[in-house]
Amino acid sequence: MKNKILDGKKLAEKFNTELKEKIKLAVEKTGIKPKLATILVGTDPASKIYVNIKNRTCQEVGIHSIIIELDENISKEGLMDEINKANNDPTIHGILLQLPLPKNLKDYTPEFLEKISSSKDADGLNPFNRGKLFDYNEELAACTPKGIIKLLEHYDIDLKGKDVVIINRSNLVGKPLIFMLLKRNATVSICHTSTKDIDEYIQKADILIVAVRQPKFITKERIKEGVIIIDVSTNRVEGKLCGDVDFENVLEKCQKITPVPGGIGPMTVAMLCENAFTVYKKQVNIS
Ligand SMILES: NC(=O)c1ccc[n+]([C@@H]2O[C@H](COP(=O)([O-])OP(=O)(O)OC[C@H]3O[C@@H](n4cnc5c(N)ncnc54)[C@H](OP(=O)(O)O)[C@@H]3O)[C@@H](O)[C@H]2O)c1
Repeated sequence: MKNKILDGKKLAEKFNTELKEKIKLAVEKTGIKPKLATILVGTDPASKIYVNIKNRTCQEVGIHSIIIELDENISKEGLMDEINKANNDPTIHGILLQLPLPKNLKDYTPEFLEKISSSKDADGLNPFNRGKLFDYNEELAACTPKGIIKLLEHYDIDLKGKDVVIINRSNLVGKPLIFMLLKRNATVSICHTSTKDIDEYIQKADILIVAVRQPKFITKERIKEGVIIIDVSTNRVEGKLCGDVDFENVLEKCQKITPVPGGIGPMTVAMLCENAFTVYKKQVNIS
């Protein structure tokens, strides 16, 4: 059973250790420590947990991480001003806007992401950096898809010619993955709530990437023998974290699987730290 696990926690630790060394050398060279500003609007408990995890990991690898906490009733203009301030602050190298935003601001999310300077966009969600994916440029790609690809590569999972089925079409997960998988010559199918006969897609998947926010959405009856499963979701059931896959139930039938927790979550945070270092290098002009 152990050799079926795609251990994101362990791989993230390896990435973080390597990054810590790179940051140390860069700081020795420049005398400047990388600084990431996370903008957190409101008091959503899940967002607070995620921000604290990111903050802690950044500190561990040597990134000075600050959290700009804003009232949930801040106006659209007020939040735009805060983003602008961070854009114009030369001591801040990277900016992250924690999503989702509160109800009153949610509809403007694309405008806020566009406002973040593309050269400080640690989350890879600014339209300029998203657009670069069209040219298969992943330098500042979104953290979760980047983490998924790095995990597959680490485990030598060849994507060429594979049928990869993604159940999710969000900007954070499904859409960036399309380009990253095409780059590696996979055949990509995207499923969502309007997909007809979704089980036909699930059945043919060599690699199944699922992020639907529904515990036990994927069971052994739905999958092909030998499928590799990437479970992206972080659902909370009776206080415990779980993904969208009925883990114990599919374990025997699948070839490999990411656990929740300990799979894509830590990889996402590791990729955020990597992106924060990338934007820092841009700001301080080192390669
Ligand atoms: N581990 C991490 O670091 C990390 C990072 C990012 C996200 N996540 C997790 O990933 C999950 C997805 O996040 P998100 O922001 O992408 O969520 P989202 O915007 O709500 O997207 C969910 C997607 O699933 C599809 N979907 C929902 N129910 C479905 C069904 N019954 N059949 C087919 N498709 C269905 C939706 O289709 P429609 O488009 O048709 O609505 C949508 O494309 C969440 O659990 C989130 O916590 C984890």
